[in-house]
Amino acid sequence: MEITLSVIKADTGGFVGHTEVHPEMMTTARDAVDEAVAEGLLIDAHVNRVGDDVALIMTHTRGESDTEIHGLAWEVFQSTTAVAKRLGLYGAGQDLLSDAFSGNLRGLGPGYAEMTLEERPSEPVLVFLADKTEPGAFNYPLVRMFADPFNTAGLVIDPAMHDGYEFEVLDLHQEQAIRLRTPEDYYALLMLVGAPHRFVIRKVFGRKNPIVGAATSTQRLSLAAGRYIGKDDPVMMVRCQSGLPAVGEVLEPFSYPHIVSGWMRGSHFGPLMPTAVEDATPARFDGPPRIVSLGFQLKDGKLIGPRDMLADKSFDRARQIALELADHLRHMGPFEPHRAGLDELEYTTMPELMKRLSDRWRPMEV
Ligand code: F6R
Ligand code: MG
Ligand code: MG
Repeated sequence: MEITLSVIKADTGGFVGHTEVHPEMMTTARDAVDEAVAEGLLIDAHVNRVGDDVALIMTHTRGESDTEIHGLAWEVFQSTTAVAKRLGLYGAGQDLLSDAFSGNLRGLGPGYAEMTLEERPSEPVLVFLADKTEPGAFNYPLVRMFADPFNTAGLVIDPAMHDGYEFEVLDLHQEQAIRLRTPEDYYALLMLVGAPHRFVIRKVFGRKNPIVGAATSTQRLSLAAGRYIGKDDPVMMVRCQSGLPAVGEVLEPFSYPHIVSGWMRGSHFGPLMPTAVEDATPARFDGPPRIVSLGFQLKDGKLIGPRDMLADKSFDRARQIALELADHLRHMGPFEPHRAGLDELEYTTMPELMKRLSDRWRPMEV
């Protein structure tokens, strides 16, 4: 039986500011998906959060971009928005860019990652939720997991992994996609996805066994809305083991925090700090950006779990390093490279400033 795993998320209001989701919003979302399970639309569902984002983790047999499933998520986010409005929470309904739902969530604001799979005899899946960053934040860990033998021992010593993987990469500026294969396209892949603001890995597939291994959300709210609306705080899911990277190889890239774009006002670079769900409450300068990982075993579409994977003690040092990097970058205040480059600023006073200063510029004497 083919099962689709859909992870759909939105920021529909923060408690307090942009730091967390209010418990009442969580209860509202949980009740709504439980009802959809009881009615048979979903096989199973789990609701969780990272920072101010609610994530619906759902299994079903309706395939990807399905109207009913996306429509359900849209309804859930309308309900959590209503709670946020009633409680006066911050940015109520922030990610819902349209008044009406039309077929699927594309361009409407909520982010989604979906994969359709034939369940293996045992199916370990890790779901990752990130806050205060952008979808390209997953490029680095995905390359490490699926293409870097210094991270993933299986690429060298497991014959089932020796043929490598295929990466589907989107060019968000040109709205085009390409498939690159590792190991032979490794350098080309790095040239593209090393620029995560523009190139984003959407899916990874096996080669020896051509199954889907990973999927990310690739919507960009700022592009969709045409103006700053909030970072699109991405989600990702990765299948593990038996010819795919082991759970420990999938988590290994988070043992040393990489620097991502996002943080305060979506306009600063900072470390992506791995945390337990209960610590995913970005408060210092609205950050630093957070990532949590929920581990499940799928069984006939049922979500057995989750385990809070990054709560593990072995990530304590990564958290410490992230805080040190955060200190270092914060010292730079409004200077690049802590502040994002002018092209990447999500908010900017530049046009207004240039207008205001227009009659004060003089020709440069050389
Ligand atoms: C970043 C984020 C926050 C806000 C910041 C200012 O993704 O959501 O850092 O950008 O708190 O928010 P406003 O402009 O609503 O006061
Ligand atoms: Mg928010
Ligand atoms: Mg958020």
